[in-house]
Amino acid sequence: MRGVILAGGVGTRLLPMTRVTNKHLLPVYDRPMIYYPLQQLVHAGVRDILVVTGGEHAGDFLKLLRNGQEFGLEHLRYAYQDGEGGIADALRLAEFFAAGEPVVVILGDNLFQDPLAPVIDAFRRDPTGAQLLLKSVEDPERFGVATVEGDRVVRIVEKPRSPETSLAVTGCYLFDARVFEIIRTLEPSARGELEITDVNNRYLEWGALRHHELSGWWTDAGTVPSLHRAADLVAADRGNVVLTRTHPAGG
Ligand code: G1P
Repeated sequence: MRGVILAGGVGTRLLPMTRVTNKHLLPVYDRPMIYYPLQQLVHAGVRDILVVTGGEHAGDFLKLLRNGQEFGLEHLRYAYQDGEGGIADALRLAEFFAAGEPVVVILGDNLFQDPLAPVIDAFRRDPTGAQLLLKSVEDPERFGVATVEGDRVVRIVEKPRSPETSLAVTGCYLFDARVFEIIRTLEPSARGELEITDVNNRYLEWGALRHHELSGWWTDAGTVPSLHRAADLVAADRGNVVLTRTHPAGG
């Protein structure tokens, strides 16, 4: 299993902070945002990790994370996304790195209270198709929204005006190697991006999409209100093993 953290984009929703650094390096409570997805992967035993970034401040990642020693890693890989092609376009850059293995992909601005290790372990044992993590939220229109019938996801709509359900598709996805074939066939959406929702809908059409509903809190941190909320959630959860592990100060 290979891990991919998507940390590109220009962070328009967090201007002016993102004028001087990448969104994923902004602080969430006591550490840079990207530490949270990285800690999740390390905690789940993922040792081969690629950080896909882009924009003017890509070099800051190398300064901060170096070779990942602070996280107990032997190495970290980096890839550079030119332009603003969207999440699926960024993931495309991981094909060479994945080398036919399944991948766990986490958006660099997503924070999960619960360890992702059980879901990652389950996918290691049965690495076929795709696996989504869903969470009921109060503002589903900001996300990909899933409709579940029985035990199956039957539809995913990206940022719907009138969401059918409150189930957000969170930014952690597990894919088999077919994900890269799918990405090659995608067309840009109305916002000019290759959408991860289109990837997931392809697995859905194939009957190869599994899902799991999270019980702990989940948040993105890509807007001013959600960045603030993320910090509050972490602050209130200081005993959390995944969130506090591998802290540089030794916590
Ligand atoms: C992206 C995805 C969306 C997903 C969300 C999770 O949206 O397009 O489907 O629900 O991440 O954070 P973004 O916030 O990057 O526009």
